[in-house]
Amino acid sequence: MKKTYLTGIKPTGVPHIGNYFGAILPAIEIMKQNKFKCFYFIADYHALTTIKENKALKELIFEVACIWLGCGIDPKKVVFYKQSDISEIFEITTIINNITPKGLLNRAHAYKAVVDETKEKGLEQDSLVNMGLYMYPVLMTSDIITMNTNFVPIGEDQKQHIEIARDIVKAFNKNYGNVFVMPTEIISKNASLVLGLDGRKMSKSYNNIIPLFESEEKLKKIISQIKTDSTLPNEPKDKNSTVFQYYKLFATPSQIQDFSNKFDTGISWAQAKNELFNIMNNYLSPMRKKYNFYKENPQLVDEILIQGAKKARKVAKQTLLLVKQSLGVK
Ligand code: ADP
Ligand code: TRP
Repeated sequence: MKKTYLTGIKPTGVPHIGNYFGAILPAIEIMKQNKFKCFYFIADYHALTTIKENKALKELIFEVACIWLGCGIDPKKVVFYKQSDISEIFEITTIINNITPKGLLNRAHAYKAVVDETKEKGLEQDSLVNMGLYMYPVLMTSDIITMNTNFVPIGEDQKQHIEIARDIVKAFNKNYGNVFVMPTEIISKNASLVLGLDGRKMSKSYNNIIPLFESEEKLKKIISQIKTDSTLPNEPKDKNSTVFQYYKLFATPSQIQDFSNKFDTGISWAQAKNELFNIMNNYLSPMRKKYNFYKENPQLVDEILIQGAKKARKVAKQTLLLVKQSLGVK
């Protein structure tokens, strides 16, 4: 039996190079191997925790769809869909709620971060927490187990969610028999955590991103604004710098070696940024073209997602039937 890979991106902002190296690229490399079942999706109900405006959500869903397609997922090889089209996921969420200890969710990083923020503001405990945020890991577990997922390519920040998913699967299977597949996270070695322009994790929520498919001019501008130290042009440069770290993501080993030599002997920051721009732009250009093609063809994107949802629902319906039988309601 072919193993299943699944991953999702929530449409809460414009996808960036952290999303690309942490989740999208590993997912595409898996697809290219032609050895696995691949389920890649837009986690639009996960975005509801923060995006409350109709037009914004619609645009972001379309944006994330075009990003996935621009980066090269082939809808013939991948089941590509929108989470909200698969109603079985939400039914399974309701079911597994009943086996999920509340304490497990109390420990979730994303929830705890909001609780800390609440405390700092001197507000009442949980007053900034909506139940979508609190239950986020359960919905994510359902995304995964509904499609019988073996492996989940994600960035380091999502690791805890997969651990929670495993705990829920363990508890469910212990009680009802071997119903759900146990998922394992796949975390990219060299891009588990891409840092943002401000040195924190690059995130749609932090306003510190390099968007994947910005125009050449904007990309150049963003790169020119990366903060650097005040070393003089002919002095050696820091390889922990953002410029070097980003360069490493896009370059081949021999290009990295050349760049590293220049950092040792001295290169001006302007020249280093120029080289960074060139390598990024060469890498991203063909994908940007594809992305722009889909941006101009929204009906095609809709059709791809409808077809994907049909395929995903076939699997989801089978899982739900099995689950219902195991519960005793069918
Ligand atoms: P964001 O934090 O920007 O909202 P998401 O939570 O939608 O991003 O993440 C989508 C995928 O991209 C997840 O697998 C996540 O782990 C990965 N990812 C997000 N940010 C980074 C990053 N800075 N470095 C590596 N992977 C990342
Ligand atoms: N929570 C993930 C994120 O914020 C997105 C996501 C939702 C996901 N469901 C998933 C990722 C299932 C992997 C598998 O990045």
